[in-house]
Amino acid sequence: MSLMRDTKYIKSINGKVSAIGMGTWGIGGGYWSPDYSGDDEWVRVLREGIGLGMTLIDTAEMYGGGHTEEIVGRSIKGFPREELFIVSKVWPNHARYDDVLRSARASANRLGTYIDLYLLHWPAPEVPICETMRAMERLVDDGVIRFFGLSNFDVNGIEEARSCLSKYDVAAVENRYSLLHRVDESSVIPYVQRNGMLYLAYTPIEKGAFSNNEFLMGIGKKYGKTAIQVVLNWYVGIDNLVPIPKAGRVEHVRENAGAMGWRLSRDDWELISNHFH
Ligand SMILES: NC(=O)c1ccc[n+]([C@@H]2O[C@H](COP(=O)([O-])OP(=O)(O)OC[C@H]3O[C@@H](n4cnc5c(N)ncnc54)[C@H](OP(=O)(O)O)[C@@H]3O)[C@@H](O)[C@H]2O)c1
Repeated sequence: MSLMRDTKYIKSINGKVSAIGMGTWGIGGGYWSPDYSGDDEWVRVLREGIGLGMTLIDTAEMYGGGHTEEIVGRSIKGFPREELFIVSKVWPNHARYDDVLRSARASANRLGTYIDLYLLHWPAPEVPICETMRAMERLVDDGVIRFFGLSNFDVNGIEEARSCLSKYDVAAVENRYSLLHRVDESSVIPYVQRNGMLYLAYTPIEKGAFSNNEFLMGIGKKYGKTAIQVVLNWYVGIDNLVPIPKAGRVEHVRENAGAMGWRLSRDDWELISNHFH
């Protein structure tokens, strides 16, 4: 049986990804966490999420100084590799051609596998974007990564990066987007949709801020769902967009996965959209 229960087809990767993914910022350290319970617990949490169908995992060389990628690598062991979609990122201080190659190989080593999608984490003003893009194309040719993209870029930046490419194209953009942070709605998201790319929405649940929202809880009652599940399902209703909530606890991961496999009615979707505008 396939792990992927609720998916979206994305033209730029000519394949499907899970309708909701998992973020990993904070997993494996990087900041002090009162809930720290060790790598084994994080592995358990991520494995639970994969088993529930959140097969897209977002990580980065910067998270936990590389340790997060090691935890992701442990977590994916035993799952069918082709059903997973592993995203990692190169930090802008490694945006030079040789550094990108080195960083990607180090990330793949820590993950114990190739990278499905490799992103430039933030724009690197001192490095010409064409130099970074050239390295990305080389990594695809070398089989280290399957696709590449950009994070924290606006439409002009994306267009500039695309103009350097001859062999492959930018497959994805990862930016901040939530019901409370909707800047990309009139720019990057329609651009990405028009071009058949994947849009990864980070900080989608605003660190859990929607949990006790009475308006969302009211809508959720109709569906037997929580406020967070309503928010996550609202994103599922947007073409080409995949939210990547991070959860460090099993109960959160289960709740987030419960936002898949059903759909808000169009009326409720609009109601939520207008409520937060
Ligand atoms: N590309 C970039 O520049 C960039 C920047 C920021 C983030 N990201 C990526 O996006 C991911 C998500 O963003 P984020 O971590 O900033 O914020 P987020 O996913 O909106 O929020 C994460 C927080 O929400 C809590 N949470 C998770 N599920 C919950 C639930 N069902 N109910 C209540 N609280 C819940 C988590 O708690 P517990 O951990 O205790 O479960 C955690 O404190 C990151 O992990 C990272 O992978 C990328």
